Amino acid sequence: MKKLHLLIVLSVLLAFAGCGSTDIKNSSKSSIDQKVDSLLSIMTLDEKIGQLTLYTSDMDQTGAFLRPEYLEDIKNGDVGAIFNAYGAEYTRKLQEIAVNETRLGIPLMFGYDVVHGHRTIFPVPLAEASSWDLDMMKQTAEIAAREGAAEGLHWTFAPMVDISKDPRWGRVIEGAGEDHYLGSRIAEVKVQGFQGDDLKDLNTLAATVKHFAGYGAAQAGRDYHSVDMSDRELREVYLPPFKAAIDAGAVSVMTAFNDLNGIPATANSYLFQDILRDEWGFDGFVVTDYTAIMELLFHGVAENEHQASKLALDAGVDMSMQDGYYHQTLADLVEDGRIEESQIDRSAGYVLRVKFQLGLFDDPFRYSSTERQEQEIMTPENIEAARDMAKRSIVLLKNENQLLPISEDIQTIAVIGPMGDNQRDMIGSWSAAGDWTKSVSLLQGLKNQKPDIEFIFVEGTGINDDSRTGFADAVEASQRADLVILALGESYEMSGEAASRTDISLPGAQEDLAREIHATGKPIVAVLMNGRPLTINWLDENIPSILETWFLGTTAGDAIADVLFGNYNPSGKLPMTFPRNVGQIPIHYNMRNTGRPFDPNSKYTTKYLDVENEPLYVFGYGLSYTTFDYSPVSLSSKSMDVSGSIDATVTVTNTGNRAGEEVVQFYLHDKVASVAPRVKQLKGFEKIYLEPGESKDVVFNITNNDLKFYRLDMSYGSEPGEFMIFIGGNSRDTQNAEFELQD
Ligand code: BGC
Repeated sequence: MKKLHLLIVLSVLLAFAGCGSTDIKNSSKSSIDQKVDSLLSIMTLDEKIGQLTLYTSDMDQTGAFLRPEYLEDIKNGDVGAIFNAYGAEYTRKLQEIAVNETRLGIPLMFGYDVVHGHRTIFPVPLAEASSWDLDMMKQTAEIAAREGAAEGLHWTFAPMVDISKDPRWGRVIEGAGEDHYLGSRIAEVKVQGFQGDDLKDLNTLAATVKHFAGYGAAQAGRDYHSVDMSDRELREVYLPPFKAAIDAGAVSVMTAFNDLNGIPATANSYLFQDILRDEWGFDGFVVTDYTAIMELLFHGVAENEHQASKLALDAGVDMSMQDGYYHQTLADLVEDGRIEESQIDRSAGYVLRVKFQLGLFDDPFRYSSTERQEQEIMTPENIEAARDMAKRSIVLLKNENQLLPISEDIQTIAVIGPMGDNQRDMIGSWSAAGDWTKSVSLLQGLKNQKPDIEFIFVEGTGINDDSRTGFADAVEASQRADLVILALGESYEMSGEAASRTDISLPGAQEDLAREIHATGKPIVAVLMNGRPLTINWLDENIPSILETWFLGTTAGDAIADVLFGNYNPSGKLPMTFPRNVGQIPIHYNMRNTGRPFDPNSKYTTKYLDVENEPLYVFGYGLSYTTFDYSPVSLSSKSMDVSGSIDATVTVTNTGNRAGEEVVQFYLHDKVASVAPRVKQLKGFEKIYLEPGESKDVVFNITNNDLKFYRLDMSYGSEPGEFMIFIGGNSRDTQNAEFELQD
């Protein structure tokens, strides 16, 4: 029986589905459902459980442990999907085992964390979010998918859409920052970019929206820690990006590691059954995070493997990643009646449906082509797109006396600091199959752009050590230069998974190095490379120009040089607040007002004794080499009812002498509501390009949808009354207006 070939499976399917062979190639979703049912009807229980099991190969390691016998597992039909395996040849080899050596020859699905690029590495997600450029973000997902799919992949574990207001948490680097409106728009375009219009298209990857849910609110920013939050906060802030991704068509969802209000996400039927399936109608499949079913034992909600698997399956979790718990226990659980076989059918059906959608039953090897691999990987167009995205992701935090862009008169530049000639860290964490040796360091980028300038590079100190032995050389080099570029930051391992910090200042002796260089009196530009907002008060007070560049990927150095020399006018805006110190965390712009709003003249109002309430840099903040003026807001009407709408218009003028882009941001505030309103909530934005002296009208159309929130009884809707509108280039400096929603 072992070698009943795939073709036989297909003919059985045809018979069951009653359709011809052309049909199977151009199948619509409902005919896919028929095929799934037919296939399930000939599968044994073990074969179905196999489809619910995902193991890693040993090509890459993204979690605590490997399973050396994964090849045997494939041969035995015990595994339906493999991750951390890529490359046309290797995926073909594994697929051949599944197709030729198992009874039904059901193809494997290959997954990988193609998060911000596959081989061509784009800026880390937090950096891309700083661009507020949805078209570009979609394009980078498209390219990532094309490269990944050309190397045999079918499925990416992205986008990560966890909202976080806590920069101590290392995984803020993987997301879109603190705001759910921006996060939702990015989630949508990422899913569209990865998946395209049809999963069968060879240039696409199935997307996984992760980590469901609440992971970004881990207590005290410590990774994997508990999350306790109200249903209102969950639904209003943490869930919308997931909903947006699912509405955009994401076919899989990954569970989170944390517990949510005491119930581990991986055993949480409120999340997976009530919200995801019942409320949102999700019909893709749910995969756990790495060994998350096993971790139910450590959470303390299961005594043994069987109980853990039952909890997860009952909660609506379809596929287990890496712990093998489903593989080991589901058959027993069916046998002794603790779970129904129909539960297995349901989950296996969800997984098989995606395999059909990917076209794997048409040709299991269609993605594994050495030819396509050679054509698609790191093409000049991909590299160019990476540079384009990278320069758009840079945020200019400070620029006193227009020190930037660097003047044409400068002849000697000292590049000082551990990030100055650093390639390794440029591609950041979760850089898939990216090769850091192909990334462009800042120094290299500067030289590429200005071969006639003399660059003197001195590291000065390490990223995270206290060594001061290089200070003297750094000072001496600075003294010889007309300008100093101080390249400071974190190593790529200081953010990402399992990389939380309680002190988010510049690590090691870097700030001391900055002080020494500052004492030379030379003009200094600080270029920061890091995976989270940092506390950089001293730099802000003392260094005239500061660029936040995050980790910009393969073309980092070229993109930074584009901005430093003014070939590109920076246009990024912060997607996450920069606190003044760790004590202010969690800090975010869309808080509620308190009953004692801050008043400097009154003791009993909300404040700290030792630091002001305001952050160092607010959400949405970022400068340009030009300046933009905002007209007062004009409203098409001062009132509307629930079926109406109002246009809020501002005229934005480029008042400087360079062309530039501006992210025009639109916020709302409900003045009085049954639930304390947020002081401001982003509801729209538009990135515009203006020549010097040029003006543009930017119009935001306000409808009842923008005014909705979770009301006192948790129904989602608006309440009549007065609203405020804020429009500006960041969340603080805005033009304001008011209107009324009538009964
Ligand atoms: C991470 C996921 C990732 C998975 C597979 C886990 O440790 O939390 O985000 O997709 O590993 O690599």
